Amino acid sequence: MKIVKQHFHTNKNDTGSLTFLEAMRDIPFMVKRIYYIYDIAKEARRGFHAHKELEQYLICIHGECTILLDDGSEVREVNLNSPSEGLYVGPGMWREMHAFSHGAVLLVLASEYYDENDYIRKYQDFCNYIKEMAKK
Ligand code: TYD
Repeated sequence: MKIVKQHFHTNKNDTGSLTFLEAMRDIPFMVKRIYYIYDIAKEARRGFHAHKELEQYLICIHGECTILLDDGSEVREVNLNSPSEGLYVGPGMWREMHAFSHGAVLLVLASEYYDENDYIRKYQDFCNYIKEMAKK
């Protein structure tokens, strides 16, 4: 599995830091939707789904968290602990988010509007989907 964890341009000086990224330049899609996860309960695990088409960048803009990625044959865990780095999560990737630090904020940039039909929410369905895709 190829993990794409990217450092975004950051302007840092004595007064603070500013990170920026541009669609189709720093990330490979137009951003149609932004959402963020915060006020996360202690020990919470979230996600537990994959997408058929959606592309996303996950940026832990405050605190840290761990992202579990499972492509159907390999499982990797990635720690996000910097507001200047993002993790690309493409289609066909089961994800779980956990180990959120107190007050963590996870920002997500998404390539499409919200569409429940793009979700695969059962792990067995995900395994079947991956097998079907491999045949094509
Ligand atoms: P979900 O994607 O399951 O969250 P997580 O992966 O963090 O566990 O979304 C939780 C709920 O919010 C679900 O009922 C769908 C809704 N939702 C929207 O309406 N729009 C959105 O853009 C997102 C991401 C979720």
